[in-house]
Amino acid sequence: MKIIVAADENWAIGKDGGLLWHLPEDMKFFRETTTGNVVVMGRKTLDSFPGGKPLKNRVNLVLTKNPDFHREGVLTAGSVKEALERLREYGQKEVFVIGGGDIYRELLPYCDTAYVTRVYRSYEADTFFPDLDASEQWELCEAGEKREHEGLCYAFTCYRRKKA
Ligand SMILES: NC(=O)c1ccc[n+]([C@@H]2O[C@H](COP(=O)([O-])OP(=O)(O)OC[C@H]3O[C@@H](n4cnc5c(N)ncnc54)[C@H](OP(=O)(O)O)[C@@H]3O)[C@@H](O)[C@H]2O)c1
Repeated sequence: MKIIVAADENWAIGKDGGLLWHLPEDMKFFRETTTGNVVVMGRKTLDSFPGGKPLKNRVNLVLTKNPDFHREGVLTAGSVKEALERLREYGQKEVFVIGGGDIYRELLPYCDTAYVTRVYRSYEADTFFPDLDASEQWELCEAGEKREHEGLCYAFTCYRRKKA
């Protein structure tokens, strides 16, 4: 399983149920990387999408503890264990964990690669991704060139789990 996330200098990823920036190239990278594959997310991240609708052309698996939760085009799992079981049915597709904070934290141990769009600014936030630079288990393997959009610097980076 792989993670895809956009995080600021302090690994902030969200505030008040939404994102912290608008980066069209990052949206494009996200769309191109995940389309045709499986995306795994928390119920709050699903609710942050327009109309609370799932992402098109992808299998959407949503974690929720609410057994009555149903939404068109969405598969659900009531626990990490159930999510991992459901994902076995999609063995031939790539699986991307797409957030938010709870789900990244809970599924990080099952992931080997993290695509991190690093935004070089510091935002006020209430949701964070684990600091991979401080982790002994992860290493930066690709630090993409710095890009800029309307004065905001960012880069596409990639971290991999260190081999035991
Ligand atoms: N920058 C980025 O790349 C990025 C990506 C995605 C999201 N975000 C941001 O992250 C924020 C949302 O993150 P969040 O941490 O608040 O919420 P979240 O991780 O999206 O969803 C949390 C919800 O998932 C369900 N859940 C969590 N653990 C579970 C488990 N073990 N079993 C079953 N269900 C479980 C619960 O749903 P129920 O309450 O229904 O039980 C919980 O309330 C937003 O601000 C969003 O914009 C940022």
